Amino acid sequence: MPVRYAFSLVNIDSKNSIFTKRQSGQGYEGSDTRLPARSGSSLNCVSMNNHTVTFSNGQQVLALGQGTYMMGRSWLKRRQEIKALRAGIDLGMTAIDTAERYKNERLVGQAIRGLRDKVFLVTKVQPFNAKHSNDVIAACERSLSKLGTDFIDLYLLHWTGSLSSYDETVAAMTLLCEQGKVRMWGVSNMDVPKMERFFSIINGDACAANQVRYHVAARDIERDLIPWCKEHCIVVMAYSPMGEGKLVQDPTLSAIGRKYNPTAAQVALAWSVRNTNILSIPKASSPSHVLENFKSLSIPLTEEDISEIDRVYPPPAGNIPAAT
Ligand SMILES: NC(=O)c1ccc[n+]([C@@H]2O[C@H](COP(=O)([O-])OP(=O)(O)OC[C@H]3O[C@@H](n4cnc5c(N)ncnc54)[C@H](OP(=O)(O)O)[C@@H]3O)[C@@H](O)[C@H]2O)c1
Repeated sequence: MPVRYAFSLVNIDSKNSIFTKRQSGQGYEGSDTRLPARSGSSLNCVSMNNHTVTFSNGQQVLALGQGTYMMGRSWLKRRQEIKALRAGIDLGMTAIDTAERYKNERLVGQAIRGLRDKVFLVTKVQPFNAKHSNDVIAACERSLSKLGTDFIDLYLLHWTGSLSSYDETVAAMTLLCEQGKVRMWGVSNMDVPKMERFFSIINGDACAANQVRYHVAARDIERDLIPWCKEHCIVVMAYSPMGEGKLVQDPTLSAIGRKYNPTAAQVALAWSVRNTNILSIPKASSPSHVLENFKSLSIPLTEEDISEIDRVYPPPAGNIPAAT
């Protein structure tokens, strides 16, 4: 019988036990994934492959969130975009990803008004604001003001740019966490050597997430970054999971979709969240696209489907199987 990637929907606030006491030497396999505890933690991060991801502070979030890049560019589309984001939050797609660079934090602030307690809010600081800790703090204050909130759930360094050292960035992130303005911090667009650099800095191992490009046709991170992040209890946020929209017409994904009736977009998303510790953040600017995307969580991709995708979009050479 083929192994099914069971995509049953879960109440993320409920019974799913997310932590176990430290159990040294356990591997991570299948749906009961035990990862090595981080230094200073008496608990192990456990990911249940039940469509939630678990952050290092224990917070659980549905593995399908919402991107916002390009939102807020047109006044004509604004209302529709806000409706789309609110529809997603109602469905449980509560991770909302923005960035100071997107220049749409005010729109996101408007979309989450009255729903702040349901939302897992992610925004990002640009590298040229991350060189000196005072600049990071000022950028964070600006984002908080635009978003109309007094805390950010996850604050990311957007990319490395011309930063030669991460010390000041980490110091600022640590301070922001101590001040309660940021619950967790992380990074984006970082490869394994950069992650190792972060982990060599004092408090750098508090990094909770790495947001990177990941879709069927962009699988490089399977080789080393995904396993590294799993090992260090870091959530991988998959951006552009539909290849910036190019995959919604993909013939392979469409053919797989036809078996169950879903669309190529839904197959792309189901594939992106098939593994533990991956939080996929498709951007959709209409409630109908949001609903369609949400339904991807119930597509029963089989091993056969996964193999077909592997055949057309091969995993990187030297790949560690993605399901481990
Ligand atoms: N950290 C980084 O450096 C970085 C880089 C890129 C992206 N990101 C984040 O990741 C998010 C997602 O990536 P992305 O925006 O590049 O691309 P994406 O999510 O892969 O694709 C977005 C495109 O897919 C379309 N779409 C969405 N749902 C659909 C559906 N059900 N059927 C057909 N088309 C559908 C959207 O159209 P509509 O808008 O018309 O619905 C949009 O054109 C971004 O919004 C951003 O938050 C981060």
